[in-house]
Amino acid sequence: MRRSPAAARRPRAAVLAVALLAATAAFALGPRPAAAALAKEQAKQWTSYLDDALDSSIGSTKLSAGALNKVLTAHDFSTPLSSALGSVAYTGGNGRLRRVVSDLLAGKPVKIVAIGGLATNGTDASAPGKNDYFAIYVDYLSKAFPGATIQSLRSSVGLAPSAVVAGCIEKFLPPDADLVLLEMTANDGATMDSSIVNAFQPRGYESLVRKVLGGSRQPAVVLTQSMAPGMGNATKPFFMTPEAPQYSAVAGYYDVPVVSMRNALWPQGKDEAEGLMSTDAVLPADGSTPTDLGHAALADALVLLTQRTAQDLQLLPFGDWDMNALNADVPAKSMYGGVVDNEAWTLRNATCGWVRNATVSATGGCPATVGDMCGLDFSNWNAIRAGYAAAVPEIFGDDGSKGKGAIIGGVVGGVVGGLGAVGGLIGLAISRQKKRAAAEEAAWNAKAGGNAAGLPITASSGAQV
Ligand SMILES: *[C@@H]1O[C@H](CO)[C@@H](O)[C@H](O)[C@H]1NC(C)=O
Ligand SMILES: *[C@@H]1O[C@H](CO)[C@@H](O)[C@H](O)[C@H]1NC(C)=O
Ligand SMILES: *[C@@H]1O[C@H](CO)[C@@H](O)[C@H](O)[C@H]1NC(C)=O
Ligand SMILES: *[C@@H]1O[C@H](CO)[C@@H](O)[C@H](O)[C@H]1NC(C)=O
Repeated sequence: MRRSPAAARRPRAAVLAVALLAATAAFALGPRPAAAALAKEQAKQWTSYLDDALDSSIGSTKLSAGALNKVLTAHDFSTPLSSALGSVAYTGGNGRLRRVVSDLLAGKPVKIVAIGGLATNGTDASAPGKNDYFAIYVDYLSKAFPGATIQSLRSSVGLAPSAVVAGCIEKFLPPDADLVLLEMTANDGATMDSSIVNAFQPRGYESLVRKVLGGSRQPAVVLTQSMAPGMGNATKPFFMTPEAPQYSAVAGYYDVPVVSMRNALWPQGKDEAEGLMSTDAVLPADGSTPTDLGHAALADALVLLTQRTAQDLQLLPFGDWDMNALNADVPAKSMYGGVVDNEAWTLRNATCGWVRNATVSATGGCPATVGDMCGLDFSNWNAIRAGYAAAVPEIFGDDGSKGKGAIIGGVVGGVVGGLGAVGGLIGLAISRQKKRAAAEEAAWNAKAGGNAAGLPITASSGAQV
């Protein structure tokens, strides 16, 4: 399954040699001939990149040895190196994360937000707020970049799928996020079977990724892929997760890095039938919710991605070409049809599929719009079903045209659930600018409806760095 290291190394070395040769040759010849296939602007970007690459001599550190040492040693890995390396599944151009890590190295303030399901809530970590993946990662950042002001926000979506989170995005994404960890594979995988090629949920996911990328501070996004239900208790095989191929296609299209808990744990699972894994890193009952081991694996993946980005910045400092990538708009055209030009229906259809497959609706109806879902309490299935029955106007018939609305009151109920109560437990915001941050958050919360109303958002203060 895996290529032997030697086999993998040779072609890469060859590619590198060719690239270096080409760059050197171009330098020796003076102005580089523009490659015929490239537009002027594209050729300029390459030139700028190569100038930076050639300027930075390999191994030179702009950072002091002490600073780099902190970045590389502030975390204890629990995943074996080969698995940890495999868990950094995709980095792409990484421009936005390179910006964030540059800022961290430069001691600037950075706000990190985790948006996701039970893993992100810290459910089933033995000490949520201390040893769940987000807590470990934020703790690492504060130790690795002691000069930076790190603010963190945990935005738990409960069991809600991507389409609903996309449809209610203002509740989950604060405007000043610099880095967003998006942990949605377990939620989206809950209702998927081998027909995951059906693109309803991937469309909802694409919409969500676009919205997060469109955040006002052009946040870096890391697709933080936890395991789909059944994967860790040997009921669903390696491939049966939205993580691949659909979500990795989204990652490639938007050039967003991906870390994978599945890859980190594979093949550390106990031997099962081909393609199956049984691991202590998730709850046996659902094969998905991380235990302490699983949280540690996910944190390892995020730390390694961050370290490699910092090392990469040593070899190749943040350059103009990074800025170009950073300032580029979210592409006007989506990868899947309908995500941009028919967004309301796309999200509604994805939500409809989820509502039916997860038997959220007792009658088999669908929400009239995804917005009708925003007020529900997503902390457990009973709460979702009760809230849905009470508050969501249903439509029967796939095209929505036969709107025989079973509307039982417009009241959006039941928001004050388990999620709203997480606040005090998960004290993670590490900030020297608590007041300003609190004011910003208050403004955001007021706009989004208010934490007092039980929004599934928790931000609180933790240790000063
Ligand atoms: C394994 O996980 C699946 C999916 O969550 C669940 O339905 C099943 O009951 C679990 N199996 C066991 C033996 O607990
Ligand atoms: C939504 O679903 C309906 C019924 O399956 C279909 O006719 C329509 O094309 C879908 N729209 C989008 C944008 O997916
Ligand atoms: C619901 O299940 C069907 C049949 O298994 C599948 O084709 C579809 O993709 C699922 N929908 C969602 C939104 O998961
Ligand atoms: C979130 O975690 C808290 C413990 O920190 C727990 O009480 C709560 O039930 C969890 N919520 C969900 C939806 O799992």
